Amino acid sequence: MLQIFRRKPIADLMSGDGAPGTLKRTLGAGDLIMLAIGAVIGAGIFGAIGTAAAGQTGPHGEVIRLGAGPALVFSFILLGAACALAALCYAELAAMIPQAGSAYAYSYATLGELVAWIIGWDLILEYAVGNVAVAISWGDYFNTLLRGAGVTLPAWLTTGYRTALLSADPAVHGLLQTAPQLFGVPILVHVPAFGIVMLITWLLLRGARESATANNVMVVIKLIAIGIFILVGLSNLKSTNYHPFAPNGFTGIHQGAAIVFFAYIGFDAISTAGEETIDPQRNLPIGILGGLAICTLIYVIVGAVLTGMVPYGELAVADPLARALELAGYKAIGSLVALGAVISMSAVLLVFQYGQPRIFFAMARDGLLPRWAATVNPRTQVPSTTTTLTGIFVGVWALIGDAAETYDLTNIGTLFAFMLVSIGVLVLRYTEPTRERPFRVPFVWPVSLLSAAGCIFIMRGLPHTAWERFGMWLAIGLLIYVFYGYRNSRLRRAGKA
Ligand code: ALA
Repeated sequence: MLQIFRRKPIADLMSGDGAPGTLKRTLGAGDLIMLAIGAVIGAGIFGAIGTAAAGQTGPHGEVIRLGAGPALVFSFILLGAACALAALCYAELAAMIPQAGSAYAYSYATLGELVAWIIGWDLILEYAVGNVAVAISWGDYFNTLLRGAGVTLPAWLTTGYRTALLSADPAVHGLLQTAPQLFGVPILVHVPAFGIVMLITWLLLRGARESATANNVMVVIKLIAIGIFILVGLSNLKSTNYHPFAPNGFTGIHQGAAIVFFAYIGFDAISTAGEETIDPQRNLPIGILGGLAICTLIYVIVGAVLTGMVPYGELAVADPLARALELAGYKAIGSLVALGAVISMSAVLLVFQYGQPRIFFAMARDGLLPRWAATVNPRTQVPSTTTTLTGIFVGVWALIGDAAETYDLTNIGTLFAFMLVSIGVLVLRYTEPTRERPFRVPFVWPVSLLSAAGCIFIMRGLPHTAWERFGMWLAIGLLIYVFYGYRNSRLRRAGKA
């Protein structure tokens, strides 16, 4: 028997199997839809959308990706369809296996320990690295807001080293020479991005319930900000901006979709709260699918309005929505939307900083990570060790990282995990056919296979550097599994293979 394919019985997943520490059930369906919107609408629609429309070039004029132009609306529709398929698969598994750990827990029960480890490792890209991108975009909008109030921080305190290195903008790239130096190394740090991660981590350490309430308030504010953008934008559309509609044809739509996929990440994040959800069998599918439907509609409208307001080539900036309003002559409203963006992205940060420690927690509880990582604070019921470590990891990377680079890495990792989950739902129909399924994917064969194919197709729109880095990330993860997880797996030790 090959032990790396040992599967964790679903009954064990649901009971916790005598594991140290369980989490408190406090979240209802409404909280979950709010958590989904809180996770989904953020840096993707406020930041990555600009690069998706305009494309990206490197510091030496090399084309990194082609932009979709106004045809970006087709990128959103394509992504909405692909994510709906993946969402159906997530909903079936999340309702069936309502345990902390998301796709990691599902795959442990379906595809075995090795694949589960790969997915858990991969989800670090989605949650922690994704939050690096969100934190940087948060910091960029925060700077826009400060400038609107007449405060300009020095560029070397608001630009990460990687951003300066990769930027095609001579003013930003030139910071490598002009920034203060320490032992010959330019000091280029994004202090606001670091600061917000620390603040969010502190909030989370206070407990899940307080965080969900804060999230609800932030979601309402983000919907108001986007509503203002759409209303003002609609009265400032210029038909000339829609010509050419698809400047780079389908390649532009495809490559644009591959980066703005980031805007959809998060509907799956609420499945990590399965163990803290009341009646998860009913509430998880409602939260995941409902949240996704609302967000897709909003994105298509924002995409159409944004590319109708200004020529798409103007959108290759860190704060495209605020910039579009400014170019249309509404600077003050641009600042208002920047405020909304900052609040929205705080909500996204909250959900992902909430999800990542729970995935680490689940993995540590299974013995694939050190046991000390599975400690729960007895007073707040929060997995405090992993929450703190996630905060440090994300904060330090955000201090020196680049947004576009981290969008790509996050997207490829997330799409890969979605692909494995889609296959997993099909496998489980055959390996556990009698298991109760409170929610069933309709037409499971075409839906799960199309979902997996859709993920691969979107991944193929990413630059090759993303593929290389993803390959390296997986290789490091495999080494850790071979030298640690395989030996320490609780399932293996219990002899349940
Ligand atoms: N979908 C989330 C965002 O756009 C990750 O910020």
